[in-house]
Amino acid sequence: SSFFICCFFLPLCSVDGWKKRWVQSKHQPDYGQFQLSAGKFYGHVEKDKGPDICGFGNNIVQVILQYQGKYHANNKTIKCRIDKDTHLYTLIIHPNATYAVKIDNEQVTAGELEEDWAFLPPRKIKDPYARKPRKWDERLQIEDPEDKKPEDWEDFEFIPDPEAKKPDDWNEAIDGEWEGPLIPNLKYKGQWKPRIIDNPSYQGEWIHPEIDNPEYKPDPTLGHYYNISVLGLDLWQVKSGSIFDNFLLTNDEEFAEEVGNKTWGVRKDVEKQWRELYEEMEKRRQEEEAKKKKEKEKEREDDIWGLYTEEDEEDEGEVEEEPEDDRQTQDDSERAFPGRNAAAHVDQKDEL
Ligand SMILES: *[C@@H]1O[C@H](CO)[C@@H](O)[C@H](O)[C@H]1NC(C)=O
Ligand SMILES: *[C@@H]1O[C@H](CO)[C@@H](O)[C@H](O)[C@H]1NC(C)=O
Ligand SMILES: *[C@@H]1O[C@H](CO)[C@@H](O)[C@H](O)[C@H]1NC(C)=O
Ligand SMILES: *[C@@H]1O[C@H](CO)[C@@H](O)[C@H](O)[C@H]1NC(C)=O
Repeated sequence: SSFFICCFFLPLCSVDGWKKRWVQSKHQPDYGQFQLSAGKFYGHVEKDKGPDICGFGNNIVQVILQYQGKYHANNKTIKCRIDKDTHLYTLIIHPNATYAVKIDNEQVTAGELEEDWAFLPPRKIKDPYARKPRKWDERLQIEDPEDKKPEDWEDFEFIPDPEAKKPDDWNEAIDGEWEGPLIPNLKYKGQWKPRIIDNPSYQGEWIHPEIDNPEYKPDPTLGHYYNISVLGLDLWQVKSGSIFDNFLLTNDEEFAEEVGNKTWGVRKDVEKQWRELYEEMEKRRQEEEAKKKKEKEKEREDDIWGLYTEEDEEDEGEVEEEPEDDRQTQDDSERAFPGRNAAAHVDQKDEL
């Protein structure tokens, strides 16, 4: 039978039951808190709780697998999608030690476990007894040994001025030997160098011969994992707000794809529309605020009689909080076009 691991966005977390199934690690004291959230934009308020940020280190997807008690990260770079929308990540491991990674139900990479993870020692190693012969000629080009400096080559950049004359009152006993001033040599051709030619005895780059690695032993059980009974999230994030949900472990590749289609697939467009709407509203709100602030400042400047009171400022920026229950009963059309209140309630969910 086949064996696959697939991570998905299935509604695993019901609104109140998730705390019983997920355990917060106590390994270190400074962990953040997990919270149930649908994010600022989502296709369906309860079913869609996928990540809206992805970025492992250099925005790559790392697939870390355990082999004989050691963890190994994949050796091939898989770029993750960097935007604010929910993405669907799938890892498929076949019993024949091949694998595939899909993002949003599209294959982004595939290959052999042995090639892309350093589970096993390399198949080939450099022959420790092979040595580069001392006379091996790796020089691609050389100076032409046949090339000779022409007899009339002018080597001197400066020459004594032929017009200059020793002053009449020059006394060698006192003044030392007379040296005329130097002038640039008009015939100076620069320093002579032999021309460069292709090395006729070039032997090419020496390649260290390889031999079969005596340490290497193939392992047909590579990629066989037993008894996966727990799914954990180990997060290290600089910016909060990553959201994960809908995990699926299955041995049916097609089923996994289908579930992805039926969950993430049907909600992604709604989510995107809503995000764009939300961002538009955010932008307008910020512009509005900036405008108000400017007006206030102007008022203050004009306020030569000191009539302006600080209290006026208190209400500013505060937005009405929407009761939790309201949000559950909202229907989709309302959610797709949230009013000012919706913007307020999503603001407070920016935590994880
Ligand atoms: C490994 O197994 C998968 C799934 O059965 C199959 O698609 C693939 O062709 C196999 N690859 C090799 C190299 O046998
Ligand atoms: C990892 O990738 C590097 C660069 O492509 C390669 O030289 C190395 O052999 C790879 N290692 C394994 C274990 O595949
Ligand atoms: C997997 O679980 C079964 C049943 O609990 C157990 O018999 C078996 O030894 C376990 N295998 C491994 C590799 O842990
Ligand atoms: C999932 O959706 C894609 C795109 O619509 C489609 O090509 C594919 O056949 C679907 N897969 C399954 C298993 O339903």
